[in-house]
Parts: sequence; structure tokens; C-alpha cells
Amino acid sequence: MVSTRVIELVGAAALLAGCAGSTYGAEGGSPVGSAPSADPAPVAAGVSARAPARGEARPEIWPAYEYPVPVVSADEAKIADLLARMTLPEKIGQLVQADLCCVTPEDVKTYNLGSILVGGNSGPDGDDLAPAPAWVAAADAFYLASVDTSDGGVGVPVVWGTDAVHGHSNIIGATIFPHNIGLGAMRDPALIEQIGAATAKEIRVTGQEWTFAPTVAVPQDFRWGRAYEGYSSDPQLVASYVGAMVRGLQGPPTGDDLLSGPYVIASTKHFLADGGTDNGVDQGDSSISEEELRDIHGAPYGPAIAEGVSTVMVSFSGWQGKKMTGNSSLITGVLKDRMDFGGFVVSDWNAHGQIVGCTNESCPQALMAGVDMYMAPDTWRPIYGDLLTRAEAGTIPIERIDEAVARILRVKLRLGLFDHGKPSTRPLAGEYDLLGAPEHRAIAREAVRKSLVLLKDQGVLPIAPGGRLLVAGEGADDIARQSGGWTLSWQGTGVDNSHFPGATSIWSGLKQAVEAGGGSAQLSPDGSFSQKPDAAIVVFGEKPYAEFQGDRATLALDTELTGPYETMRKLKAQGIPVIALMITGRPLYVNPALNTADAFVVAWLPGSEGGGIADVLVGDAAGKARFDFAGKLPAAWPRTPDMDNGALHEFGYGLTYDSPVAGWSELPEVDMTEVAGDSRLWFGSGKPAARWSLLVGDGTSGGQTRITTTPAEALGGRALVTAENFLVQEGAQRVAVASGEAQVSLRNFEPVDIDRETNADVLVLMTIKVRDAPDSATLGAIGPASNAAAVIDLPATGEFVRYGLPLKCLRDKGADVKSLTEPFVLTTRGKTDYALGEVRLGTDAEVVLPCR
Ligand code: BGC
Ligand code: BGC
Repeated sequence: MVSTRVIELVGAAALLAGCAGSTYGAEGGSPVGSAPSADPAPVAAGVSARAPARGEARPEIWPAYEYPVPVVSADEAKIADLLARMTLPEKIGQLVQADLCCVTPEDVKTYNLGSILVGGNSGPDGDDLAPAPAWVAAADAFYLASVDTSDGGVGVPVVWGTDAVHGHSNIIGATIFPHNIGLGAMRDPALIEQIGAATAKEIRVTGQEWTFAPTVAVPQDFRWGRAYEGYSSDPQLVASYVGAMVRGLQGPPTGDDLLSGPYVIASTKHFLADGGTDNGVDQGDSSISEEELRDIHGAPYGPAIAEGVSTVMVSFSGWQGKKMTGNSSLITGVLKDRMDFGGFVVSDWNAHGQIVGCTNESCPQALMAGVDMYMAPDTWRPIYGDLLTRAEAGTIPIERIDEAVARILRVKLRLGLFDHGKPSTRPLAGEYDLLGAPEHRAIAREAVRKSLVLLKDQGVLPIAPGGRLLVAGEGADDIARQSGGWTLSWQGTGVDNSHFPGATSIWSGLKQAVEAGGGSAQLSPDGSFSQKPDAAIVVFGEKPYAEFQGDRATLALDTELTGPYETMRKLKAQGIPVIALMITGRPLYVNPALNTADAFVVAWLPGSEGGGIADVLVGDAAGKARFDFAGKLPAAWPRTPDMDNGALHEFGYGLTYDSPVAGWSELPEVDMTEVAGDSRLWFGSGKPAARWSLLVGDGTSGGQTRITTTPAEALGGRALVTAENFLVQEGAQRVAVASGEAQVSLRNFEPVDIDRETNADVLVLMTIKVRDAPDSATLGAIGPASNAAAVIDLPATGEFVRYGLPLKCLRDKGADVKSLTEPFVLTTRGKTDYALGEVRLGTDAEVVLPCR
């Protein structure tokens, strides 16, 4: 790949020269005009090398690999031929990927787009939950448009990417495997390969060819809301899985014409250190050394490349102040040159817009850094136009464009896209019985069994099947909950058991096992019972979340999810043996449950095969275990919410049925009212979250009253604020306005930046109970340089309703989403009476407000 490298470096230098004086190249402090890695600082004899610039990698200290995918001369000839025949617009089209939300087959034809994707919230014809045949039909339509040469183009077939991150997880009826964190607990690379192979088959059924998986993050701070997408905090464990998963998905690295076999192409993501950001902030920055970057976060990429992974997705995050998407030293220098990665590099969802000097609509820097394909979901049109204009003007070198197109074509050729007809005619397509096939579910169930980690057992497990079992707590019969984020919808919200045909909830698995052994089971979320049970399983833990929504300030389970602790205590007080079963994407501080329960099992996010839990928890007729616990912690378990007091259990901990029963020493319990919670929550439990204030004003400066205690008067007596119950005592603030205009707002002590949430489909959620409807109302946001609002309807319902206004709406109305001091401003006119229960960012609105 030496020649390639020369082309790219020349290209980078040329672009830099062409842009001297602009901010291009300035990110991370490298001076404009000096091409980063092209021109290493001269080293005088006897003088040690200058310290590298911040965010600038030294490829020579990284391990070298050899990309094993054979060079096929017929493919190379075809690439040369295509490059010679393709027009510049056709080439640019190949570099662009559009989301189903915002693209039609006609667009794919007109612009020769190289790829389409389906984001977490998208689906065929705008239906995220479309049935499988609709996906095949859409795949055909996009493919046929891409190869339509009636307009004289060469007709390069489009490739469709999807987040099949734990099974074909966007599709109703597919097998949902445990999320990666659970797989990390089982320490079984062979099973990982089987999971990859089963997932690939299910993807092929609906006509897609590319999964944005595996995530090979090595999370170091589990406050990060995407930590569950990584297998483990341990680089070696992650590295031991990656090759197996890639092989399962793609087949052997020497394989060609993947579409003739049961394969898809994989994407290891997110390059690099997505799991290494400071404080675990999603899309944040990692300030670690280059050695840590290489040894912790770089570790999985070697095995991925050794297995011939076809694509790598670049991380939203940054390293040493420089966004990965613009980091040529890492993408080109390390990944492509040093590690010899021979596939193509795709960026993440509008991540290019975060590079200094770029916007979502314009960013040649990403291409020059080494990104071959732009994930430009809703911005593909301007990105395409911008790249084309620059290419025509010669400010993006054609060599770099050709190199990127060649990489994409090479992968498409290896896949066999040119040789197989429309997706519905390819092997496995339309074989709907393969979705959730018994043999795939069996693999998933085995994974569930092997991933369970036993943290405590005072001799109450396994459960003898002949007796009476009570299953209590939240989420015992909720497949969406046990599946977590990235399941059917982006955040895993808005779906219920009816969307999971063929799946088994934790409850139904337990019931089946107990009844098969001659016993009886009762489901009772609040723990009440008609006949005293012999044992109780109390299910509790996290609710589904994905990007942004899962970030937390501490490692404590959200207080609002700790209700089942009380259920455990009550059952225990009645002399019933209690088994705590935790659904979670990460190790969390849950000491009250650990102290109370007689046994404690971590189930992670098991997915559709809840029966695997009963396999281990419920014994055979003789009271003996049918399967032992095999799971070991994939990351340390915290002793307190802040981890300052070290781990309660280290990585690798996990009891088995053979472990001796030890006495229990009480763990410290922390007063949770002192602990900061969810950073997405602005107002809840009747008060503003830490760093926030609740203000009542009339829109004029100086007229605002900060509400600290209630009852409180504001607006010169026109408004009265009192406390009212919602979820908890005094969990809401009631605002009664006698007449005129009133503005209730939430102010942060420093401006907040919600740009990244706006880029995704995040909403500002307002849970409100309206008694007297205002004459009119708006919901808006105020920043130092902007003031925007949308007109909303607030009918009197007398009940709490969770309304959601898309942040995109506020942005479109002119809000500067990068800097808002009062990101929530509810303005009413006329006599009004309502109670405000909660304000936060999220996606699970009951009513989405139109943007007016
Ligand atoms: C995520 C990726 C995902 C992509 C497409 C991004 O926001 O970070 O992991 O593959 O969206 O849905
Ligand atoms: C996600 C996509 C999702 C989108 C919603 C992105 O950040 O990765 O998969 O559909 O946000 O707008």
C-alpha cells in the first residue's frame, strides 16, 4: 500500500496549500500549511525527537499488520476500468451515504450514491417497524435505481448498511442476541463467531449487505451510555472476540463473492477510543497518551484487520482535542498505512460537522484525513454538492477521490455486488423463517446462559422447580426492556412485547421452567401474592437507552428505578428467599439490593431469549442445577456511585454453584439524594436538577423570579407556584396564572450546548398536567444570541402528559443550539393552571408536538 500512501500525502499537502489562510488544518493546533505527517520535524544528530503535537499520532510506534484479503487481479482491472469511465459526479456520489429518512431510489440513481443506511429511527417508507418483506422491497428498489444506466452512467450497485448490533436488531421477529457487554461476560469466542454467522444470515433475509458492527469499544468509564455496546473494559478480552465476530459475519478473510455465501460485510467501530473519553462523555474527548490509545483502544483493530474486516467506522469522539474524523495521522497514518487496512473508512452520522472548520454541509477535511465515505444521513445533498464543487475547482485532489472510490469499489467487488442481481434474488433473501429461526434462538439462549454473572448466593439457588415461585419487580415481562437500546428503535423505546413475536421474556422463561418441573409461578410486579411463595425473583435495573440518553453523572442506578428494593425488603421480611435479577448495560452501585437479596444475578441485556435465565436459575427435579453459572464480570463492579472507593468486585469475578457459601458483610449504602443523577434531566422530582434554576417571568428583563421554595408568588402576584404530587410527594410544581403572559423557564448557570443531540432525533420532553388551558402557548429556548419558540397546543387534560418538541424544530426556528442559557421556556397567555412534572431531553414522548 506504499503507493497509496504517497498519493494521500501529496493530496493532503496540496489541499492544505490550496486552503492556506483558512482554518483548514488548524484543528488541534497544527499550523496551517504544514501537512501533518508528510513532513516530520528534522531531528538533529544526538537530539531526541520533538514531542509530537497534541492529537498527532506517530504511526511508527503502532503495530504493523498485513491485510489478508487477496488482491484479485480481475477486480483490480475492473476498478481501473470503472475509474476510467466514471465521471467526476459519479465518483463523488460513491463517497456519500444517505439515510433512508431522506433519500429516494430516484436520488440514488440521479446522484450515483455509493450507499444508503438505515439509522436507528428509520425504516422503509418512513416506517421504523416495517415488516420484513417491506425491507426486501426497499432493498430491491434502491439496488435497481443504482444500477440503472439509462442516463448513461456506469451504474455502481449501492450497498445498504444497518445497525445489526445484537442480531438483526432493526427487524421485527429477528433473533436479538445479548448486547456486547453480556457477551463479554461469557468469555467464549467460538460462540461469538456463531452469533456473527447467525446475524449475517438474518440480515441477508431482508436484503441488506452491511452491518455497522461489531462495536469494539473498550469502555473505561461506565458512566458512558454506550458502554454496553462494548464487550469489556479489558482490551485483551475485546481483542479475543473481534476476529471471531468479523469471521462470523464476513466468512474467512480469503473469501470472495461473499453474497454467494451467507455473509455480509462488517464494520469495526468506532475508531478510535470511543470508549476512552474523559468522564465517559458520549462523543467527548479523550486526553490519554498515545501509548494508552494504542494499547487499550487500538488493541481490537489488529485482529479485525487480520480477519479482513471490510469497513471501519470513525468515532464521533476526539483525541487530545482533535476530532477523530479529521485526524489524518490516525485514519491514514495508523489505520490505513501502518495497519494496512485495505477496506474503506466510513464516518459516523454527520460526525464530519464536528471537525473544527467544518459544518454538516461542508467538510473536505474528512476526506483528506482518510474518510472514504461520508455518513451524511440528511445532509448528503449539500455534502455531495460541496465535494463536487471543490473537486471541480481542483482543491480536492483527484488522486484522493480515486483512492477512496477504489477502496469502496474493491469492497463492493469482494462482496459480489456486481455479480448478483437485485437483493430479493440472492441466496437467503425472503427466507423469513430464518428470522428468529430456532437454531439462531438456541445460540442466543446459550449466550444468555453463559453471560449470567452470580454476585451473591447464600444458598438459595438453584430454585427447586416443584414449588411456588413469585416473580416480582419491574421489567420481568418486558422484552424491550431486557433488550436495551438499538432494538427495533434507536433508543429501544416505544416498543412492547407485541413487537417481539417468538421471543421469550424473563418471566415466561421462568414460568415455563417451573411449570415443567411441576411447580407454579406467579407474576406480580409489586410483589403482592395470594399464596406465600417458596422463593421470589425480583427483576430490576436499567431501562433502554442509547446514545446521549445513557450518559450518567455517576455509577448509581437511577433513583427512580430503585423501587424494587422496597419489594425485596418486604418479601425478605416475610421470610421468603429473595433472588435479585438485574437487567443492566453496565456495572452499577446497587448495594441496597446486594445487601437485601439472598442471591444476586446480573443478566445484562439478554435480548429475545429470556429462557436462558431460567436454564441456570431453575434446577432439575432433584433440585440440582441444570446449567452452572459461567459468566465473569467483563468490567469491575463499583463499591460506591463514584468509584472513589475502588471496586467491590474486580474484572473477572463471578461465583458458580461450586463456590462455597460465605457469610455476608454488609456493604455501605449511600444517601442517593446527595448523588447527581441523569445529566439529561433538567427538572424532576419537583425541583430543578443541580446547576439549574426555575424562573417565572413575563418575558421582560428584570421581571424574573427564581422559585426556590413553595408556595411562591411571581409576576407581582399574577402567578402562584405551589407543590403538588407527581410520582413522588411534591414531585411537581403547579403554576397558576391569573391573566396575561407568563414565562416559566429553566436556566443553567452556564450556557448549554445541545448541538449533538439536535443532530440526532432528540426531543425536549415536558411532562405537564394542564387544568386550565392557556389562550395560546409557545415552547422555546433562549441563548445569548438567539431567542426561538414554537407554537404549541396545551389542551386541558387533567392528566400528566409527556410532550416532546424536536430540538431540530427549535434550531429551525433560529435557536443557537450550541449556546442556550434557558433551553426551556414555556410561555402562556391568558388564565392558565398547570403542573410541571419533568423536563428533560429524550426520545420517548407520548405526544410529539408539530413544529409550528
Ligand atoms: C452511531 C453509530 C451508528 C450510526 C448509524 C451513529 O450515531 O454512533 O454507531 O452506526 O449512527 O445509525
Ligand atoms: C443515530 C441514528 C439515529 C439518529 C436519530 C443518530 O445519532 O445514530 O441511528 O437514527 O441519531 O436521528
